[in-house]
Amino acid sequence: MAKAKTRFVCQECGRSAPRMMGRCPSCGQFGTMVEEYEEEEEVLTGPHRASNANSHPRQLSEISGDAEARMHLPIEEFARVLGGGIVPGSVVLVGGDPGIGKSTLTLQMAIEMAQQQTVLYVSGEESERQIKMRALRLLRHADGSARDIPQRLYLLTETNLEAILQHVHTLKPNLLIVDSIQTIYIPELKSAAGSVTQVRESSARLREEAKTSDLAIFVIGHVTKEGAIAGPRVLEHIVDTVLYLEGDRYQSFRLLRSVKNRFGATSEVGVFEMVDRGMREVDNPSEAFLAERMVNAPGSAIAVTMEGTRPILVEIQGLTSTTNFGNPRRTPNGVDFNRLLLIVAVLTRRLGLKMGDQDVFVNVVGGMHIDEPAADLSVAAAIASSLYDRPVFADTALIGEVGLSGELRWVGQMSLRLREAAKLGFKRAIIPRRVGQGEPLPEGIEVVQARSLREALNLAMLPKEARKESDQTV
Ligand code: TYD
Ligand code: MG
Repeated sequence: MAKAKTRFVCQECGRSAPRMMGRCPSCGQFGTMVEEYEEEEEVLTGPHRASNANSHPRQLSEISGDAEARMHLPIEEFARVLGGGIVPGSVVLVGGDPGIGKSTLTLQMAIEMAQQQTVLYVSGEESERQIKMRALRLLRHADGSARDIPQRLYLLTETNLEAILQHVHTLKPNLLIVDSIQTIYIPELKSAAGSVTQVRESSARLREEAKTSDLAIFVIGHVTKEGAIAGPRVLEHIVDTVLYLEGDRYQSFRLLRSVKNRFGATSEVGVFEMVDRGMREVDNPSEAFLAERMVNAPGSAIAVTMEGTRPILVEIQGLTSTTNFGNPRRTPNGVDFNRLLLIVAVLTRRLGLKMGDQDVFVNVVGGMHIDEPAADLSVAAAIASSLYDRPVFADTALIGEVGLSGELRWVGQMSLRLREAAKLGFKRAIIPRRVGQGEPLPEGIEVVQARSLREALNLAMLPKEARKESDQTV
């Protein structure tokens, strides 16, 4: 038999290269190239791609413009991230690291939805027994009693996509869950399950199924946000909505974040806590994130970050410690590395803090990752507070972006942020000086405006007399 022709594809961006390469020439990632069978192109362009005979052009004016009818999802945090419920005919990707809780959360959703709708949960990862055990666990109440398993929840352990679709045609569920896309394969394709071709093609067929039968499909994928190891990000382009479940595996908080949504706002966040009976919704994330805070400890500052449309208060911790050997290290957890470098540089150059022989660690408590610059001031304050051993006032929240000249810059949605801080009992907020008019600032919290980082830090930390020892000044 002649050897099948192969080509080389990047698992990260899906583009091909003429030969095996250590680094993808298109996206520049290392170690992402894999070998795939070339003749599959024929299968991909085969009969199932024939035009859908039912389609015909329609006048735009005759198409109803009402908001999509959504299926009600009684898990509020989840529904909000989706944009208000499940849209029939849509495909949602739930990505995240292995073990983070994707199967748990989607099974929980399946159980809730099956009270009203027919739900088919397809698993290629676990056995029927394992899933049954998990379902029993999720249905338990705190007092030991349990709810019944809904009658309309079906389970199928299968990895052959054609077999899965046949079952879908007979059962006609309203909601299909595929756990996970990396285990699903199309028998006509030669590459292994989990390869770029299999993943891309299976999800494309699932999408066709969703669009033609108004079936809502949730696809689970082991996809890290950086996409570095687990690959096929190609999936993101095929589906309507991409959700990432993130959080620290060793901490209990989980954030469900939408990074793409054809039916709602992106960067909306749902907060959950992994408990022994599955994922519990966290109604007041700020309160939860601040629960373990040590008041008046140096190296801690409170930031107000916007997650989608919602302000969330988080504690930022900073620790500086004399470097033992080699170059001083900068170690962020939950903030961007380059952002940390920038803030340290500003503290050093513009404020004269001596950190050339200091390791700097920054941690966002609760496993949250902050992308926006509004937390800069808190990061800077946490570091300075640790270096000087001077605590930040416990009742003060810090909001603002730090500029390269050491100036403090205004950030959006200030009133929302301030209101959330006031709601949680913060008495004072230090924010950038506002130029010009804008939204009125809320009552109930003392707002102190600072022009520069230096000014803000002086206002934020307990006076010098209170600190123990240090001869440096801000
Ligand atoms: P899982 O949903 O299997 O993760 P994924 O599908 O993303 O790989 O979650 C696995 C982890 O969740 C595992 O470490 C056990 C934990 N877990 C709980 O803490 N409580 C629970 O009720 C359940 C079902 C799981
Ligand atoms: Mg799983």
